[in-house]
Amino acid sequence: MTSKLRVHCFTISIDGFGAGPKQDVDNPLGVGGVALHEWAFTTRTFRQMFGGDGGTTGIDDDFAARGFNNIGAWILGRNMFGPVRGPWPNDSWKGWWGDNPPYHTPVFVLTNYPRASITMGGGTTFHFVTEGIHAALHRASDAGDGKDVRLGGGVATIRQYLHAGLVDEMHIAISPILLGSGEHLLAGIDALMLGYHCTEHVTSPNATHIVLTKHK
Ligand SMILES: NC(=O)c1ccc[n+]([C@@H]2O[C@H](COP(=O)([O-])OP(=O)(O)OC[C@H]3O[C@@H](n4cnc5c(N)ncnc54)[C@H](OP(=O)(O)O)[C@@H]3O)[C@@H](O)[C@H]2O)c1
Repeated sequence: MTSKLRVHCFTISIDGFGAGPKQDVDNPLGVGGVALHEWAFTTRTFRQMFGGDGGTTGIDDDFAARGFNNIGAWILGRNMFGPVRGPWPNDSWKGWWGDNPPYHTPVFVLTNYPRASITMGGGTTFHFVTEGIHAALHRASDAGDGKDVRLGGGVATIRQYLHAGLVDEMHIAISPILLGSGEHLLAGIDALMLGYHCTEHVTSPNATHIVLTKHK
């Protein structure tokens, strides 16, 4: 497999949480979690993703934009896809992002509950994978047509791919907030032993950007 598995713009609090507690339809990132992404919301790249214009350029925008270069498919966990838990009650939930989600590629959603694929506007198709992380990565790599695969999150999904040593590159933004509790990204993971090293670190007024790269 020549394509890389890349994480971009995954944002944690100072105390290491990638989502606050009590995720639900009103709190997609858990209670307090929306503040994680303040560094990103104002960038030109994020504004364009949601049909806006303007926005900041510079360090934060450069990191945001990198995350869309040469990406042929995405992998998400089911909790990032939405607030529905357990067996899908019906097919009405189609993600947080409306009819034209900002992926524009095949997206493979890890879940234990089978569901038919959903074709959305703008080239996004959600496929639901019940065979685990390796199967999702194989399917995403095949669908990505030689381009890299972006691992969107959430926390539990990234942790599994890290544990398995499958993430090639991971950009983490550290936001200047505390969450106190929620989903912790690296607790219990020995990233050094897994072969990761910090290969970039840059601070903007809004976040500290870290890139971890896996040495083969
Ligand atoms: N901070 C950031 O930059 C960022 C980025 C993205 C997302 N997030 C946030 O992260 C939170 C979601 O993270 P999370 O850790 O709660 O969950 P998650 O990783 O999004 O999803 C976990 C769920 O996906 C399914 N799943 C995961 N691995 C699987 C496997 N190997 N086989 C089968 N099913 C599997 C399971 O759902 P079922 O068993 O129910 O099917 C599992 O409970 C959300 O609040 C989201 O907004 C934050």
